[in-house]
Amino acid sequence: MKRSFIREILEYIDSDTISFAGGLPDVSLFPLDELQKAAQRVLENADSLQYGHSTGYAPLKEQIAKYYRDRGFPTVAENILITSGSQQGLDIICRYYSGTSIAIEKPSYLGALNIFRLNNLNRFDMPLSQDGIDSDLFRKSILQTKLAYLIPDFQNPSATCYTDKNRKEIARAIRDSQIVLIEDSPYSELYFDMPHNSISQLVPEQSYHLGSFSKMLAPSLRVGWIRADKALLSPLIAYKEAMDLHTSGISQRIISEYLKDGKSFRKHLQKLRTSYRKKMNFFCEKLDLYLPDFEYTRPRGGMFIYGKLKGVDTVKLAKICLGKGVVFVPGAEFNGASDEIRFNFTNSSFEEISEGLKRIKSSL
Ligand SMILES: Cc1ncc(COP(=O)(O)O)c(C=O)c1O
Repeated sequence: MKRSFIREILEYIDSDTISFAGGLPDVSLFPLDELQKAAQRVLENADSLQYGHSTGYAPLKEQIAKYYRDRGFPTVAENILITSGSQQGLDIICRYYSGTSIAIEKPSYLGALNIFRLNNLNRFDMPLSQDGIDSDLFRKSILQTKLAYLIPDFQNPSATCYTDKNRKEIARAIRDSQIVLIEDSPYSELYFDMPHNSISQLVPEQSYHLGSFSKMLAPSLRVGWIRADKALLSPLIAYKEAMDLHTSGISQRIISEYLKDGKSFRKHLQKLRTSYRKKMNFFCEKLDLYLPDFEYTRPRGGMFIYGKLKGVDTVKLAKICLGKGVVFVPGAEFNGASDEIRFNFTNSSFEEISEGLKRIKSSL
């Protein structure tokens, strides 16, 4: 097992290093006051400290189900399994299907690649295009697999957002097959122009939809979920139970309490979108100034900018940059090309973005 470059880097970098590496939200935007108040209310009740159900805290499951219904995706609390981050959701599913095979995007999320390796899932890579995945390629790939893993909304690392047309084509291909889709959507609410319907919504009986509060609220709470039809979800509950009995009851209750006032969450998400769009535009402006040879597409949501420095070995560049106090993740870490780079634009200040990119320029 290979450790994640990002998680290792996060352990070793000092406070003077400018990091474009981790997928970290902007700390200054966490709704600290409201979460503090929610936590205070939760801790007034001793029941909050008791063991809970393996499938999750019932009121939170209902709130998540309502979130889907509000988006036109019929869902009840029984369709939700709360997990310790969506990372655990993916792990649970892959344990259940271990030893089979999976079609995935190239490049893809590093944390997922590690889970696939750990569970002996045979991988079929499908190169991503601007629109998503070529539907003929998708049809061909899933002939050989049991599962497909896709991140259609502002993908990690490439920031690709599948077009509505592509989503429908992929859903049709899934319906024509026996495979099960794992749709990972931690960034779907971080859109800069408009939201998109999930693919799962078009093929609910053949899909697991993974959600998470990490990017839209706070990652340290470690609360995510799997949304699936009962037949697909039921066999997973025993795995969840064996792994950690249940996700932190305190975290689940704090989120549930916070969500009770629906207005706060809506306002918070709007604030994230506005602020992240501004940061992204600034990052792109500075990229064009300091690294004009960097080829990329401006993201329409999410937390990353992905692109290419043609002919540059970005692993070597990353090592030089580390010595100059700036870090990013080379594309090779995501099964991408050796001259590609992923930048996170949400976690640094405007000054750090400018200074960090200047340092990278001086390392070339
Ligand atoms: C695509 C994707 N899936 C899952 C995760 C894990 O998120 P969580 O904090 O919900 O476990 C991440 C985190 O960066 C991610 O980018």
